[in-house]
Amino acid sequence: MNIEHTPRRDIQSLERLNQLAHKNAWALEDLDWSLTVDRERLWAPPEMSPLSYLPSFERLDGVQQRRYNQIFALAICEQFIWFETNFLVDAMESVVRDFDVPEELVTAVNFLTEEEVKHTRMFWRLLEKCEPDWYPTRDYHLFRMTPTQRLLTKSMLRWPRELLVWIWIAIFFEERTGDYCRQYLRYERRNPGAIDPSFLQVHRFHFRDEARHFQLDQHLLGWIYDRAPRWKCRLAGRMFYRVMRGYTSPRNTARQTLRQLGREFPQLERDVIPALERELPLLGQSKEYHRMAFSRKAVGNSLALFAEYPELDRLWPLFQVETRSDNLRRA
Ligand SMILES: [Fe+2]
Ligand SMILES: [Fe+2]
Repeated sequence: MNIEHTPRRDIQSLERLNQLAHKNAWALEDLDWSLTVDRERLWAPPEMSPLSYLPSFERLDGVQQRRYNQIFALAICEQFIWFETNFLVDAMESVVRDFDVPEELVTAVNFLTEEEVKHTRMFWRLLEKCEPDWYPTRDYHLFRMTPTQRLLTKSMLRWPRELLVWIWIAIFFEERTGDYCRQYLRYERRNPGAIDPSFLQVHRFHFRDEARHFQLDQHLLGWIYDRAPRWKCRLAGRMFYRVMRGYTSPRNTARQTLRQLGREFPQLERDVIPALERELPLLGQSKEYHRMAFSRKAVGNSLALFAEYPELDRLWPLFQVETRSDNLRRA
């Protein structure tokens, strides 16, 4: 196939990405699985967890806040597993199957698929180590989707050539994944020993692949999305708005983490947990929460891409600390 597309200036070529995938490959056994999980430590940087931005969070005592942090860290692992195997791997298989793309892109996609399957195994292994009773089989304990989200995912994966929103989802969530890893590493640098080493190790290994995945997703933009008819892009814009509306104001999994906290601390079930549940809609407007999760510092490349595509203009009101004009790339 004649490669005529000029890749975006600021990302590495597919050839380079494939060389790096080969060079930086690692195996699950490279991790130290003999580490014991420390229940006295945090399992995630505290500012990553959405509930810590709600007024009633202060009503939890130190032990309860730490346990919430641990439950949240497990929910993040479950979210990664869902996104990487139940969504990304299927979407990437459609790139190879349904689109006319160059050999280098097929190779890159195959690397990504293999790596995401490995990541999923790594996260399951960590979950099982932390809470063996929750995972007698590899089923989600905390992660939940609404029926609408389930339907949207099913449709997207069934008609990937028409419903191109999966490309935007891949771009945004892979950059978000990279930012989660960065937050772990940054927190550990500033607070040595505060986070459990098993969690740090897993996110450190994850980071080794995710920056490259995010670049590959942008090649998909060039090879698939930018060549699609306008109606497909407009439809993708509308669908992506629905996805982001749910994500910028998280509810489902946050509720499940609260339920788990309630099972472990029944005294919270009368007042504090109902108060936190009532306050969940505040997250959609919380500037502090948005600064952590949806700012240039966290997902700057995705925001710069969103600013380039008029069909995504509808997203900007969802972001509390960012505007389109602030995110247009300087020429
Ligand atoms: Fe991953
Ligand atoms: Fe990835």
